[in-house]
Amino acid sequence: MKKRVELPSAAETVVGDSGSVYCTDALTFLRGLPSGVANIVFVDPPFNLQKRYGRAGPNGDSTKSGTYFYFMSQILNEASRVLAPGGALFVYHLPKWAMVLGGRLGSRLEFRHWIAVSMKNGFVRGDRLYPAHYALLFFTKGKPKAFKRPKVPIQLCRHCRKPVKDYGGYKQFVAKGINVSDIWDEFSPVRHKKRKHRKANELPIGLLRRVIAMSGGRNAVLVDPFVGTGTSLVAAVEAGMKFIASDREQSACKIAANRVRATLHTLNGNHDGQHAAKHS
Ligand SMILES: C[S@@+](CC[C@H](N)C(=O)[O-])C[C@H]1O[C@@H](n2cnc3c(N)ncnc32)[C@H](O)[C@@H]1O
Repeated sequence: MKKRVELPSAAETVVGDSGSVYCTDALTFLRGLPSGVANIVFVDPPFNLQKRYGRAGPNGDSTKSGTYFYFMSQILNEASRVLAPGGALFVYHLPKWAMVLGGRLGSRLEFRHWIAVSMKNGFVRGDRLYPAHYALLFFTKGKPKAFKRPKVPIQLCRHCRKPVKDYGGYKQFVAKGINVSDIWDEFSPVRHKKRKHRKANELPIGLLRRVIAMSGGRNAVLVDPFVGTGTSLVAAVEAGMKFIASDREQSACKIAANRVRATLHTLNGNHDGQHAAKHS
């Protein structure tokens, strides 16, 4: 790691020379980091929906709206501080919270996108529409230093293998793929037991790979204060990045560190590791 972090109250798991996972509260963790250390900060917090993440149980994810807003505002202030000039901050949340939290971030960082990530796993409630997307807020600290716009292959018909859409006279421009838009609808929630690393939320690896492809780079540093199963860390090390992460659940920290180890094992060409990292 470029900069070593001293968090005396936190249990630290060092994963090779790729980075560390600290088992501690996200705010304590962020406050312990030097300013400007991160090229990407990825924030996928608890949504205050009484989810069970581990020993904290559902009460750990349930507070009054005002208390939650205050907590998240502090997290985002710290996240903005630890971001290097030109760095990128991503916040994954429900639209309701993305709206207010995004408003706060606007005074510190530059708004780039509200990315609608299609996730059809909600329920219709009361007099509302069917909620089919989460918001992925994308802000940068000034002009982005490492922005790349990924291309995605054009969608082909499953049966005839011809493009689903008629690109008319533009066919030659889309032959190598189309530019990614701010609607991401190709990622499915990690639902199947075989693919999940724990019962609670886990983001699809494809989503994190795209985030890293857009704003990452070799030896750049990713900070994730709510690391969960470590999906962001796997995508980061695959791209040759370093990381500093935290989660207050010991079980999550263990899973995240093990996933990174398995990924590094595979990347280093170890055949035995391939199975372990297959679903990472
Ligand atoms: C939505 S999950 C993150 C999932 C992660 N992106 C993944 O793909 O696995 C939120 C995580 O935040 C952790 N968490 C909740 N409150 C926290 C806090 N105050 N400090 C640190 N971690 C916390 C939970 O234990 C949980 O693992």
